Amino acid sequence: MVSKSMEELVSLCKRRGFIFQSNEIYGGVKGLYDFGPMGVELKNNLKQSWWKSMIYERDDIEGLDASILTGSDVLKYSGHEDTFSDPLVDCKSCKSRWRADQLDNHNCPNCKSKDLTEPRPFNLMFKTSIGPVDDGSSYVYLRPETAQQIFTNFKNVLDSTNRVLPFGIAQIGKAFRNEITPRNFIFRVREFEQMELEFFVEPGFDDKWHKYWVESRYNWWKKQGIDEKRLEIQDIKKDELSHYSKATVDIVYNFPHGKEELEGIANRTDFDLGSHTKNQQDFKISSNVMKNKTSTTKLAVQNLTNKNWFIPYVIEPSAGVERGVLALLNEAYKVDEKNSRTVLALKPHLSPIKAAVIPLKRNNEKLVNQAKIIKNNLQKIGLGRVMLENSGNIGKNYRRHDEVGTPLCVTVDFETLENNTITVRDRDTMQQKRLSSDELKNYYENYFE
Ligand code: GAP
Repeated sequence: MVSKSMEELVSLCKRRGFIFQSNEIYGGVKGLYDFGPMGVELKNNLKQSWWKSMIYERDDIEGLDASILTGSDVLKYSGHEDTFSDPLVDCKSCKSRWRADQLDNHNCPNCKSKDLTEPRPFNLMFKTSIGPVDDGSSYVYLRPETAQQIFTNFKNVLDSTNRVLPFGIAQIGKAFRNEITPRNFIFRVREFEQMELEFFVEPGFDDKWHKYWVESRYNWWKKQGIDEKRLEIQDIKKDELSHYSKATVDIVYNFPHGKEELEGIANRTDFDLGSHTKNQQDFKISSNVMKNKTSTTKLAVQNLTNKNWFIPYVIEPSAGVERGVLALLNEAYKVDEKNSRTVLALKPHLSPIKAAVIPLKRNNEKLVNQAKIIKNNLQKIGLGRVMLENSGNIGKNYRRHDEVGTPLCVTVDFETLENNTITVRDRDTMQQKRLSSDELKNYYENYFE
């Protein structure tokens, strides 16, 4: 079972501290959201799971954390200054602004007028000045994707790690887009995070690697707890491809508002390194790139057999963290009517809280001290956040932790003081098991394996 509507998720997120409207106390700013105490844990766990799968569990990918502010040359040669835009229309009656390709019947969604301007390109990048003089001559952008600074660091990473093709560079970080109509909660926002891999391959091997990454990313989302029933793989039509792409495959999820892109896997060919390289004329660049006389660095590698230098092709799996969080919340949301509870059945590695330790009686010194010891011991395992709940009402605590997805609750009662046993209650089955406190560490480690 998934949520019945986006409203159900929005309400849970606010009530339980996952996601808040940003700047709320001043009326809010559209397209910006803040992640609360539960949201930040879920988001970090999702990012950590991606990082692990890319960097720790493989031997062919390096990590990077590049600057968000990006020089204008980078986004000029990447094509963003010229082409990173959406078609904007104004309603002449109510003065509202819309994305032309999202309008039904060319009607203003606000006042239903048909008196709209012709669409014109609206660049989505946020521009800001840099340095103490704000005369418009020195400006930078908030990056619209994390990818570009991976390309500009290609040579740095290659030289410092002695990599040979095929290999990848992965990065997680903020991206910013001045979306004309942000909507559907955290699905389309103006500030978000991306988890991007740029995987560099020899031309000719690109189709094979593209297929490989589509499968690999699809399977990763399933491992995060997304049911195949709500996942689809869609080939993007040739006339809808981005300027850099030879082929793109979207992993589409059935969100509460409809089927939309969760992640895109693009074959960017040699467009990016070919756009940013010095001495473009020395290479057979297959993409249509802007002439670059500014770059100081050759972004090419040598074929060790024939000694020819060439520009690598790039396969790019690019996922949105917010869209991932939304899909996972939707997927995990369950109403258990029989037991009158709402459960967030997240995979344990994603759960914001790994265990809640609950003394049976509030403020009972002996019970609370014992609970603190157990909490500290569990915390030391290093699985994530463990919480001490000193509010007394066990039933309420269980319900609360079911709703934030805590997989196990540990209850400390008077028997604990006598024989050092505790009860462990499972979120999904609601079954309780009595164990010795000494077995808890093992129990936990096995459970999380
Ligand atoms: N580097 C390639 C790239 O940025 P994209 O399809 O524009 O490609 C990649 O974005 C992913 O980033 C999307 O699949 C989506 O998950 C996420 N994303 C893009 N725009 C977003 C927005 N306005 N709000 C939330 N997530 C967004």
